[in-house]
Amino acid sequence: MIVVALQLNGRPVELSVAPGDTLLDALRVAGGATEVKRGCGEGVCGTCTVLLDGEPVSSCLVFAVQADGATVTTVRALAPADELHPLQEAFLDHAAAQCGFCTPGMLLTATWHLERNPAATREELREALSGNLCRCTGYTAILDAIEAYRDGRAEANGG
Ligand code: FES
Ligand code: FES
Repeated sequence: MIVVALQLNGRPVELSVAPGDTLLDALRVAGGATEVKRGCGEGVCGTCTVLLDGEPVSSCLVFAVQADGATVTTVRALAPADELHPLQEAFLDHAAAQCGFCTPGMLLTATWHLERNPAATREELREALSGNLCRCTGYTAILDAIEAYRDGRAEANGG
């Protein structure tokens, strides 16, 4: 086994991994970060999205050893434990989560994108989320929720 040291949601952790372990499995099994979900396991669905050094990645496509020394952010870091992030509130308001399996990846991808492009159009958001698949919602409610969050954010920032 190899010890991988990383910052997980702002806290230093050491994960004991095998050379071939994916970051997804290391986070879930060794790190207890079960909020990171496994979907396809082969880089197609985006369910396992985390931020690695601030960039979204499919954690099933990254070897755990590649994350040594890195910062990893999961959906858990979006808001304090007993609170919801405004985008999570918007998902609730718009019934944008059904089974909820895709939701952590959706939330991370959408918040990351809106940090960089706060006025993203619906089409740009659809494109940004093209790597995050949802089997339940048909995407309309998800995009409605993200647009509502975008608009609320713009208003809070002075328009
Ligand atoms: S589980 Fe990683 S992309 Fe589907
Ligand atoms: S809500 Fe079920 S996969 Fe998206």
